[in-house]
Amino acid sequence: MSLSRRRFARTATLSLSAASLAPAQSAVRFLHGVASGDPLLDRVLLWTRLTPAEPAPALLPVEWSLSRSPTMDPILQRGLTSTSAAFDFTVKVDVARLEPGATYYYQFASANALSPIGRTRTLPLGATPRLRLALAACSNLPYGYFHAYRHMAALADLDAVVHVGDYIYEYANSAYGDGSALGRVPLPDKELLTLADYRQRYAQYRTDPDLQEAHRLHPWIIVYDDHETANNSYSDGAENHNPATEGPWSVRRAVALQAWNEWLPVREQPFLDGNIYRTFRFGTLATLIMLDARLAGRSAQLPASSPLLNDPSRSILGHHQEQWLQRELAASVEHGALWHMIGQQVMMGQLRNTDGSPLNPDQWDGYPASRNRLLEFIAANAIPNVVVLSGDIHSSWANEITIDPFQPNAAPLAVEFVAPGITSPGIVEGTQAGILQRFVEATHPHVKYVNLFRRGYTLIDADDARVQSQWFHVVSLTTPQPDMELARTLVTRVGSGRITPA
Ligand SMILES: [Fe+2]
Repeated sequence: MSLSRRRFARTATLSLSAASLAPAQSAVRFLHGVASGDPLLDRVLLWTRLTPAEPAPALLPVEWSLSRSPTMDPILQRGLTSTSAAFDFTVKVDVARLEPGATYYYQFASANALSPIGRTRTLPLGATPRLRLALAACSNLPYGYFHAYRHMAALADLDAVVHVGDYIYEYANSAYGDGSALGRVPLPDKELLTLADYRQRYAQYRTDPDLQEAHRLHPWIIVYDDHETANNSYSDGAENHNPATEGPWSVRRAVALQAWNEWLPVREQPFLDGNIYRTFRFGTLATLIMLDARLAGRSAQLPASSPLLNDPSRSILGHHQEQWLQRELAASVEHGALWHMIGQQVMMGQLRNTDGSPLNPDQWDGYPASRNRLLEFIAANAIPNVVVLSGDIHSSWANEITIDPFQPNAAPLAVEFVAPGITSPGIVEGTQAGILQRFVEATHPHVKYVNLFRRGYTLIDADDARVQSQWFHVVSLTTPQPDMELARTLVTRVGSGRITPA
């Protein structure tokens, strides 16, 4: 995102009345809903996107307004900004001077068109009795309806949706899910490569009514995983990128992240150095540290059998981010937070084959030196109550995290709750999943819950006694009926480092 856009947005956000909006040259529509994200104590990022009539004008003015009332009366703040084709007609407003721990409503207007009214919430300050987060990952359009998004949208007391990536997928139809029968064929129907491709894919996903409602009713805290660029990406490339036929990785990565920045309600300020890792403080109850285990500094993946897997120079976060994470954990303790939560992409808990090799070297298992450095820091500083929130693996997990969980009496250093895919399918379907699931249950003592079959999301509920994790699973992805069922409820109690039934 260019500096000029930030400068422009800042200077253009003036307090102007609706009447002072210049008459528009053409009609506009709000076809992609509204969204908010990156809440702080005193501010939150508001988002919308205008669909202009053709030919699109060079510059489109947009008014925003903010209220404490769901009817938008009275208005607390309003301002004027603008957008253009340079930003794919997306709009971001970083509204400041808000109260902590407060619910706000917002709306956009342009050329006599009004957006839906959105609802958002700032971070709480000081003593905070409760925190509720919807943990989401892996929302592949062709695989089925976004019932899980609809379910979390309906939660009245959610503080935020935490999405740990794979918000879109880069594939052509049938390459990963066939959306033909459901009218969910991905657009453009080709693998994404250019800026226009990635923009069109986001625009299509954001016409989904369930996804729109989840954005409209809750602030989101989002990081990307691999499919926002290309499968199994790392800092300098991806499994699903061939420079010989698809051009330089740096170009594809840059356009993919430009579209991500445009289409998601993320604040631009943390991205000046190209990094998205950032921290949110929910009073003294919890700190949520969001990581980039994908692009910021990840070394290339290695085969599971590689003798170089343990090379200490390899990192899943990059050494700069590893140092930052240690400083943020120490700062969270200093701040007096009870729970230290780490929101990130790929599963941290160990998952190994019968021969001891990692089942998925794209996870933290492929970067054991990185994991050991983090866990040794937690152990050396006796940091209690670390809760890791993960996705990517398209299945539901609860793991006790230790340096070597296969040793008896291994000391627990953290717990991990892993959300299933919103729609993306598990490791293997049917009987094979049953066999793998029984193998894991019999041989992985730190895995306290695993379900490889079902899609859905995870509801995280924290108070001063425990963090509870509830897995909600979709009844049917391919019927419009949005039924979900509660599959499992587990807790970790203060000071225990263990996972137990609620
Ligand atoms: Fe995924």
